Amino acid sequence: MAEAVIEVDGIEKSYKTNRALAGVSLRVERATVLGLLGPNGAGKTTLVRILSTLLKPDAGRATVAGYDVVEDAEAIRSIIGLAGQYAAVDELLTGRENLELVGRLYHLSRIERRNRAEEVLERFSLTNAGDRPVKTYSGGMRRRLDLGASLVGRPEVLILDEPTTGLDPRTRIELWQYIEALVRDGTTLLLTTQYLEEADRLAHRIAVIDGGKVIAEGTGDELKTQLGGAVLEVVVADSRKLKEAARWLERLGEGRIRLDETRRLVTVGTEGGARVVVEAGQLLVEAGIEIDDIGVRRPSLDDVFLSLTGHAAGDGSETEENPKQGGTRHGRA
Ligand SMILES: Nc1ncnc2c1ncn2[C@@H]1O[C@H](COP(=O)(O)OP(=O)(O)OP(=O)(O)O)[C@@H](O)[C@H]1O
Ligand SMILES: [Mg+2]
Repeated sequence: MAEAVIEVDGIEKSYKTNRALAGVSLRVERATVLGLLGPNGAGKTTLVRILSTLLKPDAGRATVAGYDVVEDAEAIRSIIGLAGQYAAVDELLTGRENLELVGRLYHLSRIERRNRAEEVLERFSLTNAGDRPVKTYSGGMRRRLDLGASLVGRPEVLILDEPTTGLDPRTRIELWQYIEALVRDGTTLLLTTQYLEEADRLAHRIAVIDGGKVIAEGTGDELKTQLGGAVLEVVVADSRKLKEAARWLERLGEGRIRLDETRRLVTVGTEGGARVVVEAGQLLVEAGIEIDDIGVRRPSLDDVFLSLTGHAAGDGSETEENPKQGGTRHGRA
């Protein structure tokens, strides 16, 4: 097995009576990205804070580059780069001053601090704003500065908590490219995200976390394959017929059915192929249910997430239940 740079074993953490982590285990191999994917309140930030030694676990063990998060907190702080969910920059200092300050924490020489600050400002398109106090920055600029600050020390292990939340699409893509380059050069990254697209693009492995537990783990493709070959989608003309349509279509799938009232959409996990489309069409026509649209597609990570947690990534709400309470797997069940 390749070398694990981050190893988490049975970590538990409660805030008073609120159990945020209920025994989480995972590993991140050198120069790879682990995407920790989960809805609001799943426990992502709690794990990030434990790994970056800002919070002590109640039980379990975790190491970063061989250092224990409880015993060797100092050592870990000097080798990791961290960008928290909320920007931790000083409002009164300029962008450049903030970056140079971080350089000092990493014990860089004055000239190195200046060079790295300049480099980061340029990399994150902040050169023109570099000498302005951060309090004059927009939300996206702060976010970029905060991410930049995590890179000043050229850390071998990077922990980013929802790094692209609040970034515009262009900046998000630039950041992805930058992260990919860092990982190619050997950086190990743990990244939390609510964006499936982000996990799909960046992460070598994905751990889906919900209710303080890892409920699935694998590559994006493995997770999609777990869900079955394809997804049949049918849009009915009359939303009042949605549930009836679902009852018919359930025969074609393996119990994984979802209803979306607003889009008049039924989604069924199936084997795929044209035969399924034809059969579905016939079933519904015979039942007198008018179809607006019908087709099959490959499952997305979105489907995986919904199927595992019962809610869409990031929305925190439950979706329409399976009409027959069939095989839909629920993380909390
Ligand atoms: N300081 C705290 N005091 C009490 N409860 C907390 C605290 N921080 C987090 N929690 C609770 O712990 C659970 C996990 O929270 P956490 O912030 O780790 O989730 P998250 O996955 O990062 O969510 P989000 O996507 O919203 O950032 C939640 O139920 C949350 O309410
Ligand atoms: Mg969080």
